[in-house]
Amino acid sequence: MDRDTNSESLRARQREIRDEEANLLLTPEPDGRSTRVELVVCARSVSRCWIVSQRIRIGAAVVRMDGIGGVGTDESERHKGYASRVLDAAMRRMLAGDAALTMLYGIPDFYRRFGYVPAGPEHFVRLSSADCALPSGWTSRPLRTADLPTVHSIYEAETSRAVGPAVRTAACYALRQLRAAAESPSASDGDVCRVVLDPDGDLGGYVWRGNGFWATEILERETPDSLIISEALAISAPAADAVLAVCRQWAHEVAARTGRPVTSALISAPHDGRMAAAARRTDAELVRRYVRCGGSMARILDLP
Ligand SMILES: CC(C)(COP(=O)(O)OP(=O)(O)OC[C@H]1O[C@@H](n2cnc3c(N)ncnc32)[C@H](O)[C@@H]1OP(=O)(O)O)[C@@H](O)C(=O)NCCC(=O)NCCS
Repeated sequence: MDRDTNSESLRARQREIRDEEANLLLTPEPDGRSTRVELVVCARSVSRCWIVSQRIRIGAAVVRMDGIGGVGTDESERHKGYASRVLDAAMRRMLAGDAALTMLYGIPDFYRRFGYVPAGPEHFVRLSSADCALPSGWTSRPLRTADLPTVHSIYEAETSRAVGPAVRTAACYALRQLRAAAESPSASDGDVCRVVLDPDGDLGGYVWRGNGFWATEILERETPDSLIISEALAISAPAADAVLAVCRQWAHEVAARTGRPVTSALISAPHDGRMAAAARRTDAELVRRYVRCGGSMARILDLP
């Protein structure tokens, strides 16, 4: 047997041993809505993802959707097929469940092999950071715990007929993040959510950077000259003007604090909503971004 054949059979044997010692575990998380799917090799967790049971709005309909998040293989264990095994197991679990579709926010060129395709373009509003004075009488401050019910009701009202937004519940990641932001507004690099108050001091909208969201982190890496705003919502046209001014101010502040050349605020927002309508009356660009394979992706699980 020559050296190459020898090392090939050794590799095959190693693969066999690895397979015998590898285990796929599916564990429900204490939040009652997520399942951790992980591959354990020689008693060590090496690769994992989470299935997150959600409901999303598609116009007037509310549809069960299984989100996939936290996909990752330990650096030293990559390119051994581990993430594929984890995602195949997650897919089997989802196909046996009650969701109509699964969605994720993906790195380029990875998820097509698991049946995901881009879920249409992503929509952004890019604001140049000029004109950042708030309309007369309007103010802003970091989110407080007492603001949470109003912020949630603004989200519900503004997304009630939209396509794609999640129906948020107390246990969901987004609301837990918002609660954490309200409880410690100075955590991370400055506050992460600001509310916008009308001249009577009533809450008219909010601006949430959404740090920690995978989609936000990817965008931050791709467009370092923009401040990424994951969510900006307002209950009226005047409130939308004030919310846009806060986005611009925030971009200015980050540029001044970090010395980074932040020249715009990039808001993830549909182009048929209130925020885009307000932006059209200012210096702004409406950006529609298409990705061949990556970004927001979906796969149908169940067709009636
Ligand atoms: C992306 C990641 C999960 C892949 O894990 P892995 O265990 O190495 O993946 P696999 O070995 O199962 O690879 C499966 C296939 O995808 C390809 N692939 C692996 N990493 C890839 C990447 N970053 N981009 C595109 N394709 C990739 C492999 O070449 C392989 O292709 P092949 O079957 O044609 O040989 C891993 O690199 C990782 O944890 N990265 C950092 C976190 C991250 O980016 N997670 C994704 C969040 S959306």
